[in-house]
Amino acid sequence: MRVIAIDGPAGAGKSTVARQVSTATGLRYLDTGAMYRCVALEVQNSATDPNDADAVGKIAREVSVVIERDAAKLNGVDVSSEIRSSEINAIVSVIAAHTPVRDAMREQQRRWIQAQQGGVVEGRDIGTVVFPDAILKVFLTASPEVRAERRVGQTGGDIKAVAASIAERDHLDSTRLDSPLRPSEGSVIVDSSNRTIEEVVAEIVSHFERVDHG
Ligand code: DC
Repeated sequence: MRVIAIDGPAGAGKSTVARQVSTATGLRYLDTGAMYRCVALEVQNSATDPNDADAVGKIAREVSVVIERDAAKLNGVDVSSEIRSSEINAIVSVIAAHTPVRDAMREQQRRWIQAQQGGVVEGRDIGTVVFPDAILKVFLTASPEVRAERRVGQTGGDIKAVAASIAERDHLDSTRLDSPLRPSEGSVIVDSSNRTIEEVVAEIVSHFERVDHG
């Protein structure tokens, strides 16, 4: 299966890079973070306690989440901008730590990969757990300072508050018991701190061409 898994912390440039890799390779793109964000939005809308693993797991199994290249749909409604709010940033890593939530999301992600016969899939656990057989696994990272600056450039906000929010999410995502964020075995580690998007995309595409043809 032609899967390129791109994992890494918040603000490393995964979405921008994954989209461009998708365009360059012709493989479809899936943003799995948007799936967890949709569940978080439903948790918020239904005033459910984000710490209640069973209640949040039930929501994850029952809600309709459809991620398209340019839209995230929750129960048929386009929520692409709502899922990027600071309130959702504050709870998404909490709800994403629950095993029942992860089980439901992974099942959907694997179904998507089967249906597309491959893809460029970005997230936190794609190379480690969702699709360890991906033909190319990339761990995309950048220094905390660069990541915070990029986020402020994209969405605005106070640099200190953004840096604190990213640090909190990094901590939760990398210390959770179920599929913590870490480079998977056999992954190519790419540090985007001092490199342009074009350079990073070119490196990933050249790795892909090597393994795809080899
Ligand atoms: O990539 P993002 O910032 O949109 O992801 C939002 C959150 O979703 C992230 O902080 C942790 C969670 N997530 C996850 O646990 N596993 C994934 N495969 C993707 C995202």
